[in-house]
Amino acid sequence: MKIAVLPGDGIGTEIVAEAVKVLRALDLKFEMEEALVGGAAYDAHGHPLPESTLKLAKAADAVLFGAVGDWKYDKLDRPLRPEQAILGLRKNLGLFANFRPAICYPQLVGASSLKPELVSGLDILIIRELTGDIYFGQPRGRRTASDGHFPGAEEAFDTMRYSKPEIERIAHVAFQAARKRNKKVTSVDKANVLETFQFWKDVVTEVHAQYPDVQLEHMYVDNAAMQLVKAPKSFDVLVTGNMFGDILSDEASMLTGSIGMLPSASLNAANQGLYEPSHGSAPDIAGKGVANPLATILSAAMMLRFSLGQAEAAARIEAAVQNVLAQGLRTADIYSEGTTRVGTREMGDAVVKALA
Ligand code: IPM
Ligand code: MG
Repeated sequence: MKIAVLPGDGIGTEIVAEAVKVLRALDLKFEMEEALVGGAAYDAHGHPLPESTLKLAKAADAVLFGAVGDWKYDKLDRPLRPEQAILGLRKNLGLFANFRPAICYPQLVGASSLKPELVSGLDILIIRELTGDIYFGQPRGRRTASDGHFPGAEEAFDTMRYSKPEIERIAHVAFQAARKRNKKVTSVDKANVLETFQFWKDVVTEVHAQYPDVQLEHMYVDNAAMQLVKAPKSFDVLVTGNMFGDILSDEASMLTGSIGMLPSASLNAANQGLYEPSHGSAPDIAGKGVANPLATILSAAMMLRFSLGQAEAAARIEAAVQNVLAQGLRTADIYSEGTTRVGTREMGDAVVKALA
């Protein structure tokens, strides 16, 4: 089992180190190779996704990814910004299906910003299309406006687009995932305004004909944002495009107590995957040893399950995470009175100990 380890920037290096520690504590044989990515790779090689890093990722069975980005790169040309590394990996590896499960562990009900009764028992799965939409649509750029409110003015533009096969394959992923859960899919769109998302809605409806055992509902994205904080447990599988999925998954993360708890898996058609926490590089707390490594550790568990065929080891890690939470150990982001505050490394150590 070959794993490419790409820690990246900011807290990425700290949290990935803990996930690697947990993987090493399992009695499984991994070949792990580390490479630079993001700002760290830009500093060393002049590019956020060097050819050598991409090659390593492509050759691996799975990629364990930390986070990329730092304010100090904000002035760089877009193709050189750290974020291009993760976008490039997603595109080059064809990782179109992004799974972001939002589960509220019983021990963290109090850490959520919502009332306990709204989130207690919460288990929803956000499936975000990851290689299309306005993120990758062409053309894009800057130009002089030829019409609109200010003709002749400087303007910027991006293109929102989805092809039918792109929508079909993510719809299949969502319906199949729902079959293994509570058999309900909410497809989130903005069909009332955007042609791209009327098309999305039409294609999802068409694919649904093959899954009569799964319930399908359509919801506008603004309403979905509201329902997520009003009645989050009414969702089972939520499927949506790249942009809406980016926003809604951050929102959903707070239901679980902290964005530091939300793992993710990004898969291609061959089940090769990239696993990363849903949060970013958090430069404000980088190097302080306070970041929550649990989202990354849980991402490593998803990697074992989805790409490496080690469901049992995955379950062991997930149980160990529950165990440390039950012991009352908390990083700063999920700390509340009466619990024990620990740092990044202590949290990783505790998970390793709980594995036994
Ligand atoms: C995410 C992140 C990325 C995204 C950024 C870092 C490019 O926010 O994975 O959700 O927008 O997809
Ligand atoms: Mg995001």
